[in-house]
Amino acid sequence: MDKEKKLILSLIQPSAKSFTLGNYIGSVGNWGKLQDEYNCVYGIADLHAITVKQDPVELRKNSLSAYALMLACGIDPEKSVAFFQSHNKCHAELNWILACNTQFGELSRMTQFKDKSAKHPDNINAGLFTYPVLMAADILVYNADLVPVGIDQKQHLELARNVAQRFNYVYGDFFKVPEAYIPKVGAKIMSLTDPTKKMSKSDENQNGCIYVLDDKDTIIRKFKKAVTDSDAEIKFAEGKDGINNLLTIYSVITSKTVEEAEAEFSGKGYGEFKLAVGEVVADKLAPIREEHARLMADKAYLKKCYTEGAMKAQSIAQRTVTKAYRKVGFVDAR
Ligand code: TYM
Repeated sequence: MDKEKKLILSLIQPSAKSFTLGNYIGSVGNWGKLQDEYNCVYGIADLHAITVKQDPVELRKNSLSAYALMLACGIDPEKSVAFFQSHNKCHAELNWILACNTQFGELSRMTQFKDKSAKHPDNINAGLFTYPVLMAADILVYNADLVPVGIDQKQHLELARNVAQRFNYVYGDFFKVPEAYIPKVGAKIMSLTDPTKKMSKSDENQNGCIYVLDDKDTIIRKFKKAVTDSDAEIKFAEGKDGINNLLTIYSVITSKTVEEAEAEFSGKGYGEFKLAVGEVVADKLAPIREEHARLMADKAYLKKCYTEGAMKAQSIAQRTVTKAYRKVGFVDAR
């Protein structure tokens, strides 16, 4: 860790079908670019994953695959700390202290909790409710300066800031108050089949969601089916949610501005545009898919990476937990 550099932290949950294009554009696809300018800590949020029901065999498989995919998306484990959340017990330890400094009322206001409990009425567990506290612990245990996330995590980030400020007020200045690092374009990629809703792995219509590990034909097929509108202009405008979403995806993937993308497709038809977006996305994701396959065939290398990642993560986080224990008044263990 370079003491001169700011610290970036972000985590992503494992899932059965890999990361979504929303995860990629809003978050994990940006992580690699930050590795030279910042100290970076990136991880797989497997503790968060069990807030919904998981099959243990599947979870283990999906978590390893997610780790390999995180590396394939451009994380260099030599430059960044790349680890599994469950491999660093400091997260759970700080979680408890922060939970005792978080109010029931503020957790009740979290929109993601409301959405998820509506989706899983048979499993509104306490972990789902306290999920944002663990997320605050993930961030504060490393004293992160910046947290790259999509817009859907903004409210959780606000909570982490509030908890940090409250702790600092009660126990004296201690935690760094983190800032969200939200991309200007692409912070909320929408479903292809219902562009008024966020693209999400839990989308009922799977045609709405592109996965980073989808093959080219699947990607093109899904884009061809993307919902647009009844006028025929490829222009970013109010009420044109489908076209706005496609223009956003195209511009982020090609590193062109939305205006440049509009000019490129001026006078062209929606069919041609949708195909072009599908092509650039498929071309962008193909090397990631290949690298993921290569890494998945080298389990020994993955193990070496995540074991070293866990050690590095622990060495940073343990200092924070030790100091926090002292701050709240626990008797020194040594
Ligand atoms: P998760 O796994 O749901 O999503 C990972 C990241 O992807 C972003 N994202 C999107 N961005 C743009 N458009 C979308 N449609 C879209 N869908 C998802 C999310 O904002 C997120 O940045 N609780 C977190 C994981 C987490 C975490 C943390 C993140 C645990 N601890 C500490 C940051 C810091 C989550 O479930 O993200």
